[in-house]
Amino acid sequence: MDLFEYQARDLFAKHGVPVPAGEVVDTPEAARAAAERLGGRAVVKAQVKVGGRGKAGGVKPAATPDEAVARATDILGMAIKGHTVQKVMLAPTADIRDEYYVSFLLDRTHRTFLAMASVEGGMDIEEVAATKPEALAKVPVDAHEGVTENKAREIVEKAAFPADVADQVAGVLRLLWQAFVASDALLVEVNPLVRSGEGEIVAIDGKVSLDDNAEFRHPEFEELHDRAAANPLEAAAKEKNLNYVKLDGEVGIIGNGAGLVMSTLDVVAYAGEAHKGVKPANFLDIGGGASAEVMANGLEIILGDPDVKSVFVNVFGGITACDAVANGIVQALELLESKGEEVAKPLVVRLDGNNAELGRQILDDRNHPLVQRVDTMDGAADKAAELAAAAK
Ligand SMILES: Nc1ncnc2c1ncn2[C@@H]1O[C@H](COP(=O)(O)OP(=O)(O)OP(=O)(O)O)[C@@H](O)[C@H]1O
Ligand SMILES: [Mg+2]
Repeated sequence: MDLFEYQARDLFAKHGVPVPAGEVVDTPEAARAAAERLGGRAVVKAQVKVGGRGKAGGVKPAATPDEAVARATDILGMAIKGHTVQKVMLAPTADIRDEYYVSFLLDRTHRTFLAMASVEGGMDIEEVAATKPEALAKVPVDAHEGVTENKAREIVEKAAFPADVADQVAGVLRLLWQAFVASDALLVEVNPLVRSGEGEIVAIDGKVSLDDNAEFRHPEFEELHDRAAANPLEAAAKEKNLNYVKLDGEVGIIGNGAGLVMSTLDVVAYAGEAHKGVKPANFLDIGGGASAEVMANGLEIILGDPDVKSVFVNVFGGITACDAVANGIVQALELLESKGEEVAKPLVVRLDGNNAELGRQILDDRNHPLVQRVDTMDGAADKAAELAAAAK
């Protein structure tokens, strides 16, 4: 889970990392009151979970509370890389002398953690990384040792921080590492870490990604979830332990195994080119044991998506054989119909692998009016795309 800047700031503050004050509001009028409390001058910052807010016009200074209202009016409701701004943070205007960059992240390739730091921070760090890689210091951090005093010094030296801020930056790095470890984060990033005119070091912007696999040991993070942004179907799928991602096409996809589902998306996208450009409507992996209940849960989610015009069930029987899957589909349709749910969208089913013949026979015997059986993956994708295009 990625955090909003203000949530990252709260996390940093909890671990002693110096951060500016700030207030989060969702209306222009509330921005006025917040600006007044901050002494009149403030920076109005879009709270969205993407980088490059400043370049997109989502970070604007305001010299007076009136200006804060105007800037908040501009920024609230704005779309930044597809994310609608629902909240802004007002932060006191920092007196910025220098902008640095520091981060810790999990380095999967080298099976360790990595510290990155640069004295050329700010909005163009991506460009610095691409065109001047020597200006971005990279220092591995051992998981057991962590960021010791020596390690912090090594990072500071390698990035060539000026001598008069070296100790302060090293101290901030150690606190930031504590925040990283304590929160089971995959990434903490501060860009910019600022040196003020008075020589103070302050984290002006924060980005944090938490490890969802560690969520069970952080009940305190429950409240960080962004319910407003969560897609209701994705939320329902999560509740049922299904691996579901909503996409923007018309062909609902159900498959067993992430690899098969991924290739099904490709095949459907390709087939759709000949059928009014229809595309996959979702990713849904029902996993290895495709029981009737799991199949019913999956179908219920997909049929509940108004964008879906046809459904492609693509199953390769392995440990769970095709006859069990076929029975699962038949029972799932009955289950949904008995719950009073209208199943009115055509289903194209392709079964292959273990006990495929038996599975196909079961579907043929049941002869459900909405279910069509196609034996090849390409053929089934084409049929599903054709049906979706016809209903579009
Ligand atoms: N409180 C502040 N006071 C003064 N200037 C600020 C303040 N906050 C941000 N800025 C300026 O705006 C720039 C962009 O802000 P910030 O880094 O928070 O957003 P961003 O563009 O989204 O960054 P990123 O691309 O790293 O996500 C900063 O580099 C800094 O120069
Ligand atoms: Mg930034």
